[in-house]
Amino acid sequence: MDSSDTKDLRFPENFLFGVATASYQIEGGWDADGKGENIWDRCTHEHPEFIADRSNGDIACDSYNQYKEDVRLAKDLGSHFYRFSISWARVLPYGTIDKINEAGIQYYSNLINELLANNIEPVVTIFHWDLPQKLQELGGWTNPNLAYFFQDYAELLFEKFGDRVKWWITLNEPGHIARSYTTKDLLLAPCLDLRHLGADYMAVQTLLKAHAMAYHVYRKQFWKLQRGKIGITLHTFWYEPLTNSKEDAESAESAIQYDLGIFSHPIFSEQGDFPPIVLKIMEDHRKSSKLSLPFLPSLGEEWIQKIKGTADFLGLNHYTTRWAQPGNPDWWLPDLNVTLSIDEKIPGAKSVWLKTVPWGLRKLLNWIKNSYKNPPVFISENGFSDSGELHDVGRIDYMKKYMREVLKATVLDDCQVLAYAVWSLIDNFEWLQGYTEKFGLYHVDFNDPKRTRRAKTSVNVIKQIITSRQIPQDKDLIEN
Ligand code: BGC
Repeated sequence: MDSSDTKDLRFPENFLFGVATASYQIEGGWDADGKGENIWDRCTHEHPEFIADRSNGDIACDSYNQYKEDVRLAKDLGSHFYRFSISWARVLPYGTIDKINEAGIQYYSNLINELLANNIEPVVTIFHWDLPQKLQELGGWTNPNLAYFFQDYAELLFEKFGDRVKWWITLNEPGHIARSYTTKDLLLAPCLDLRHLGADYMAVQTLLKAHAMAYHVYRKQFWKLQRGKIGITLHTFWYEPLTNSKEDAESAESAIQYDLGIFSHPIFSEQGDFPPIVLKIMEDHRKSSKLSLPFLPSLGEEWIQKIKGTADFLGLNHYTTRWAQPGNPDWWLPDLNVTLSIDEKIPGAKSVWLKTVPWGLRKLLNWIKNSYKNPPVFISENGFSDSGELHDVGRIDYMKKYMREVLKATVLDDCQVLAYAVWSLIDNFEWLQGYTEKFGLYHVDFNDPKRTRRAKTSVNVIKQIITSRQIPQDKDLIEN
């Protein structure tokens, strides 16, 4: 189906459009008004060489001071919601609730009020990677006690903001968090290389439990009064079989089970627990390495029940596709005998990993629908990087094509998609890539102390999509 066949399709009236950001990537104010140190402060200050341009988020977009401007931009775009994250160390400098930083609470309270005053729904991510440094010193997410600290932190947020926040996301991309304990490629802070110890799988267990515990606190103690929704945001590529052989199809299926399924299966499947293929790989590994406990054992009956069903929606961050075939494991899915590849001929973004493969998103939404009985899906991120051009034609092409696939999945395939967020509202600190890759709809001048924001061409296109609820045909595009 080409673009002309979708010209009469419209997003349903209750479908929500919005934009997303994350605390460390935009706020700055890294030590302002009592904020504690987090793992990104520590990593960027101690190891500037880990960051492509040796930069950091000390000032970033200065959203700590300019949040009203961000809200104004989101409003101007026509966003129905704004997804942002709370910096754990800004509200709890040491990570635990014995010391609350009132200035941090006030900051988020002001932001939430400003959004509501502008008719924009706050969608709050409780944790988007900026762990308080003190908690990292305890082993971070490899320490099972982190689940309890997270529960306390989440409870505080429900108490302080739940009267006004009706959409909660516990964790952003727990798979990436788990990988940050293991990878030689230094994916994310804390940039540790503990793979041989199974640190990633320890983190997986703590993260899942932390999510479920926060969910239960919300449902038991707050939901009756506050009536919000609470979910989790998972990232996955779409995995496409390299050829139409049976083996490649099996490789692609195991890859998605291993990547997305490690978190989605325990929460969204009827059986619960980790996907059977993952448990089998772990058991084989245990035997061959003579360990007494597999790196990732079954969750056990009690936790299977406690984790199953703990999400009102599946938050989905999706950017691109990988092709799968049997072979040597890729560092991304290190225990799976599947080789992943990208077709270099496909046009893509500045980020080397990001190719424009729009149909992958439609297939993924259908895979989720078929695997988990069509759960509500909140697309919490989708976006494109470049060098920061104001006339961002690459982004426009990507966004239109991906949003068209979301439209088809929603209207033609009946996938239950609730919402779509563009990553990101403004150019920001792209983790280890620093300020060398830009995802914003609005340009930020990082050489200007005022961090002046300017609309890119894509702003007009997104505005047009939001107001018309349709994807404009190329000839109707008002790009300027
Ligand atoms: C993360 C964002 C990040 C984006 C682009 C997502 O995985 O949640 O924080 O900036 O991808 O790399």
